[in-house]
Amino acid sequence: MKIAILPGDGIGTEIMAEAVKVLAVLDLPFETETALVGGAAYEAHGHPLPESTLALAKAADAVLFGAVGDWKYDKLERQFRPEQAILGLRKHLGLFANFRPAICYEQLTHASSLKPELVAGLDILIIRELTGDIYFGQPRGRRVAVDGHFPGAEEAFDTMRYSKPEIERIAHVAFQAARRRSKKVTSVDKANVLETFQFWKDVVTEVHAQYPDVALDHMYVDNAAMQLVKAPKAFDVVVTGNMFGDILSDEAAMLTGSIGMLPSASLDKHNKGLYEPSHGSAPDIAGKDLANPLATILSAAMMLRYSLNQPDAADRIESAVKAVLSAGLRTGDIWSEGTQRVGTREMGDAVVAALHGQVAGKTITTRTAGIIKG
Ligand code: IPM
Ligand code: MG
Repeated sequence: MKIAILPGDGIGTEIMAEAVKVLAVLDLPFETETALVGGAAYEAHGHPLPESTLALAKAADAVLFGAVGDWKYDKLERQFRPEQAILGLRKHLGLFANFRPAICYEQLTHASSLKPELVAGLDILIIRELTGDIYFGQPRGRRVAVDGHFPGAEEAFDTMRYSKPEIERIAHVAFQAARRRSKKVTSVDKANVLETFQFWKDVVTEVHAQYPDVALDHMYVDNAAMQLVKAPKAFDVVVTGNMFGDILSDEAAMLTGSIGMLPSASLDKHNKGLYEPSHGSAPDIAGKDLANPLATILSAAMMLRYSLNQPDAADRIESAVKAVLSAGLRTGDIWSEGTQRVGTREMGDAVVAALHGQVAGKTITTRTAGIIKG
């Protein structure tokens, strides 16, 4: 088995180094190959997603991705910006199903900006359609308006669109994930305004007929954004389009206290996937040993579970992360009074030590229950 390692930009290289360290101690039968992506690839090869990197990602059994982007590339023509690398990988690898769990760790309940009772035990799963919608819809561009409020003025436009099979396949993914959890799906749309999302709602409802054991409700996206901060635990599986999913998954992530804790998986129809932390490249703290590597380490665990068929190894990593949190170790993003502040490398080392049954010099017992369901 082969894992493509794409660290990317900013904190990407630091957090990936820790995940690679963790994977190495598991002693599993796979090889890794590293390649440049994002701004780093643009600097070296003149393109954020060079042919060689794409070829590696396609040939590998799974891709572990860090983060891309830096403000210094904001002025580049769009096709050369670092973000095009992740969008290109999603498109070329057909990664249409994006799993973004938002789990509030018992040890981190206080790091949330919401009241502890609202988020304690929170465990929801946002399933975002990842290769359609206004993100990829054609046509798009700039032109001179021929109609509208200001004919003759310069304007820009994008296209929101979803085909029936695109909605059907993500709906199946959501209902099947719900069967492994609390059997409840909330489909988020904007059917009151947008034709695309009336269609979305109709198709999800149609697919639901095949899952009578799963409860389905529909919610408008503005209300969903509100309910997420009002009563987040009322959700279980949330399924939505690319654009709404981008926004709601950041909101859900922050409920848990830190986006630095959350992994994600983007899968194709054969469960081949790209795994990445839910956070970005954080150029402001890059190279300072400040970033939280746990989201990337947990992404590696998701990769072992979903694409590499190593559920035991995934459980071991997740238990080791919990053990490290229980021992009171915290990077700056999750630090609070009474806990021990550590850097990126120290956090990675602690997870490695926990995998060997050691935390901060003490022998600990790790629990074996997986934390990422669905
Ligand atoms: C995400 C990011 C990306 C997106 C950007 C970097 C293109 O925000 O993965 O959520 O918008 O999908
Ligand atoms: Mg986003």
